[in-house]
Amino acid sequence: MSAPVLSVRNISRSFGGIRAVRDVSFDVQKGEILGLIGPNGSGKSTLFNCILGQLPPDAGRVEVNGKTVTGMRASSLNRLGVGRTFQQLSVFPQMTVLDNIILAGQEHHGTMASRLFGPSDAGLTEAADQMIAFFRLTHLRDTIAGSLSFGQQKLVDAAMAFMAGPSLVLLDEPAGGVNLTMLGSLKERLTAYNAEHGTTFVVIEHNMEFVMSLCTRIIVLAEGAIIAEGTPEDIRSNQTVIDAYLGGG
Ligand SMILES: Nc1ncnc2c1ncn2[C@@H]1O[C@H](COP(=O)(O)OP(=O)(O)OP(=O)(O)O)[C@@H](O)[C@H]1O
Ligand SMILES: [Mg+2]
Repeated sequence: MSAPVLSVRNISRSFGGIRAVRDVSFDVQKGEILGLIGPNGSGKSTLFNCILGQLPPDAGRVEVNGKTVTGMRASSLNRLGVGRTFQQLSVFPQMTVLDNIILAGQEHHGTMASRLFGPSDAGLTEAADQMIAFFRLTHLRDTIAGSLSFGQQKLVDAAMAFMAGPSLVLLDEPAGGVNLTMLGSLKERLTAYNAEHGTTFVVIEHNMEFVMSLCTRIIVLAEGAIIAEGTPEDIRSNQTVIDAYLGGG
């Protein structure tokens, strides 16, 4: 069997006295859509930051396609085909949708010249337009991103993460604050991308309906540790999980 796309081994991270992530290990196989859920403050974003080089873990190891990448910078991970979206929007509000997406592509291709000459010189317009069409944003292509609805900006954010042609994308609360219609299209587009490209996803999300219908497998964190893992059906009826949420985390 080939190496997992992502292998997280015994990752721990504390902030002062707070043990935000405690000895977390899991594997993600190619093409999986893995959900990562848990109450507020259970360590989900910290875990993503440790996986993606934003934050050094105190202990543990991260492998992508069998290669150790622990502590590697996000830009280097990007070149290995790992993309991410942040819990906070990362679109540039004064730029058009097109320019935002081109810029994301430039970061991946990452030459100093392309950065100096700016979005219009990147030669990435065609790829950006394809991505815009894929996320059904063509009618908003030349609109200033800051004037879009929050849900539309979330879609732009996702499109930006996909510009690197990633084989693995980690999404931190892609559905947070998104209305029902946009939620449906986000889920549908992620599922379509997964089916077309075999891209692997790890998705942090509080919206249970979204996560249960999108993901093939779910891992539950509470107080920094994995407390359950299984299919959406397993998780829905797992008493430990129900207690963790009712306990208010
Ligand atoms: N930079 C930081 N400095 C200090 N403490 C932090 C920092 N980042 C996170 N924490 C703490 O670590 C714990 C885990 O936070 P984290 O943001 O990873 O949780 P989360 O599961 O993503 O929560 P949410 O669902 O609200 O986004 C919390 O107690 C949080 O206050
Ligand atoms: Mg978070």
